[in-house]
Amino acid sequence: MSEMRWQWQLAILLMASSLAHGEGTTGTAAAAAAAATEEQEDEAARFFTRLYKRNLQQLVALRNGSAEPCDDFYAHACGNFGQLEQAPDPDDALPPFLYNMQDRMQFFERHYEKFETLPGKLLAELYGECKMRGRQHAHLEHMLEQVPFLAAHQEALTGWPFLRHQWQRRQLDEQLNWIQLAAQLAAHGLPTLLHIYFAEQAIYVAPIAELPCPSQRQFQASMSDVLAGRHAQVGHIVAHEMRMLCRGMRGELPLATSLTEGKRGRQSTPAPAPGQEQLELDDNTMDYMQTFFGLLNFTAQELVTARKLPLDVAQITRAWGVLRQTEPRIVYNYVLWQAQQRLAYGDCYELATEFERLLHAEYWQWHVLAPQLTRDVALAMYQLHTTRFQKRRRSTLGSRDWYGHLWPASVERRELQVARLLQAHAQHYLNISALTSWYGQVHFRPYHFYGNLLQLRRAQLRHSFQSAYVDAEDVQQSAYFLRHFLHFVLLSLHRPMYHYYATQGLELWRDSGLLQDTDGYYTALDCLERQTQQLYDAQLAAIYRPLSAHEVADVFHFHRSFQAALRDYHFWLQGERFVFAEQFVLQYFGLDEHRVLFYAVAQQLCNRQDEIFAAQLNRGYMNLPEFQAAFKCGPEAQMNPPAKCMINRCE
Ligand SMILES: *[C@@H]1O[C@H](CO)[C@@H](O)[C@H](O)[C@H]1NC(C)=O
Ligand SMILES: *[C@@H]1O[C@H](CO)[C@@H](O)[C@H](O)[C@H]1NC(C)=O
Ligand SMILES: *[C@@H]1O[C@H](CO)[C@@H](O)[C@H](O)[C@H]1NC(C)=O
Repeated sequence: MSEMRWQWQLAILLMASSLAHGEGTTGTAAAAAAAATEEQEDEAARFFTRLYKRNLQQLVALRNGSAEPCDDFYAHACGNFGQLEQAPDPDDALPPFLYNMQDRMQFFERHYEKFETLPGKLLAELYGECKMRGRQHAHLEHMLEQVPFLAAHQEALTGWPFLRHQWQRRQLDEQLNWIQLAAQLAAHGLPTLLHIYFAEQAIYVAPIAELPCPSQRQFQASMSDVLAGRHAQVGHIVAHEMRMLCRGMRGELPLATSLTEGKRGRQSTPAPAPGQEQLELDDNTMDYMQTFFGLLNFTAQELVTARKLPLDVAQITRAWGVLRQTEPRIVYNYVLWQAQQRLAYGDCYELATEFERLLHAEYWQWHVLAPQLTRDVALAMYQLHTTRFQKRRRSTLGSRDWYGHLWPASVERRELQVARLLQAHAQHYLNISALTSWYGQVHFRPYHFYGNLLQLRRAQLRHSFQSAYVDAEDVQQSAYFLRHFLHFVLLSLHRPMYHYYATQGLELWRDSGLLQDTDGYYTALDCLERQTQQLYDAQLAAIYRPLSAHEVADVFHFHRSFQAALRDYHFWLQGERFVFAEQFVLQYFGLDEHRVLFYAVAQQLCNRQDEIFAAQLNRGYMNLPEFQAAFKCGPEAQMNPPAKCMINRCE
């Protein structure tokens, strides 16, 4: 901790002094402190100066100085957003809410070539190849060349999508088999007709959630490249056929409904409870499974002992009933269409999300992060930044939560364990020797993006059978915090610290549901309605417009989460004794530590569904004592209702 304090305090001090004396000159206090490694720290100072300067400059630029914060805070904070869109630097024109993602992307792009671990290098290589693919319109052509099971039929496939006469004349029935194709794709992590996925020693069989089914026009547009040069009617016909197929599979057509109902009628047994349903395999599904599992190279032992869990059997039965009634040619067209769509990768950074575990394994080894800050410092920072949150979490959740599971009572200490929990989880989940040996089996062919991609997808799918199921979206699991931690680290390299509290810190409270409270919500519902009745005026006081019950829930939850994030920020300022330095920087921009977070949060929402967010934000803020203290709105001001809501509650 002390090392961290030192680094950060120093950086901030240096920054503050260089602002005061103009860039490049160091202040006296800092110069004395930094004697030993002056050059290095100069560098760090310039870095943090840039972060704060850019961010605060933008914060100020987005505001409309002529609109009063106490009249309509949202209009004030976002008033100049339109002007910013014409900014010469495209980075400045991005809505601030995109920044966190943008920062992660920038970091990845700058560093992927320096990745050192095997999982990281595989991802980096794939990303490099994706970038080099060049012309998008040759996408299908390259796919057909590079994916071995497609390359085997390359000649026939150049005529895709197929019309009936084409299919018959060339006797494609003998060559092209939709069951094979769909199973091959699925075994490479690209399910199109049936979704089979794994968790540790378990096999799930499920229908495709949200089976892609665009309108006929969109189908046609998506194939415009391959249809170029063919008769205009071809696109029309195949799009219509595919649309009928996917609608049928989704149960949107009467034919499909009667199909399943007829079957159910014959069985005349009551519907079994979910999870108890039996999946009846017809010849097609049998073929599909055989090919699929054959390609994944499971041992007989693994297949026999694994738990098998069919989900939503009725839907699978319906979809495969429709497939049985459909010309093989049409199904083939549709399966290949999905493959072509899903492998397009208009944005190569999608790979970093798709193979997040590999990326995080690389980051966790810290090779590319080490020059910026050490892992221990980062963990200590994260622990400090989330202290209040973790404390609340621990007191709210019972002893049977994940803390309880992972840590026997003897290990629990007074201080919070989040850094150690993350370490324990990462050692296991991002175990570099395990991942290296698993992914060491993957051998890329240079410049074969599609072939390599499918290999990596296959390895990932196969690996999931060995791995315990991890849901990184679930705030009850340490996986969630591990991801948050890595995002926090990357963010802290790009943004000033208050930005963390305005984005991820706020989100942490919001997503956790720790602040949900039914009584509080109903009280807010009543109180906000009263505010509307008393103060709403369409012309003069539009910010008091009536809210739906759903909107009230959002205002209420926002209000509480924001307050928690704001308190976190102040807790951090005190804990670090930064308050002097931070005040100094903020003052330079006409801000202070009581106000800055109100702006930073509001500006994430600029120009996005203004009608909704303006209400959420204004109604949330105006009822906060912290807002009144920071902006000192007069008794008549619109942002200062005579009676405040949501403040009478026990903490
Ligand atoms: C700024 O606020 C003033 C006063 O509300 C308003 O008249 C003006 O149109 C706003 N400027 C922009 C660019 O929205
Ligand atoms: C399939 O599994 C066997 C035995 O588990 C192994 O020797 C072989 O290398 C595997 N093949 C592939 C392609 O993974
Ligand atoms: C990491 O993987 C190696 C090799 O598979 C294994 O021996 C080791 O026990 C694993 N470590 C943890 C903490 O899971």
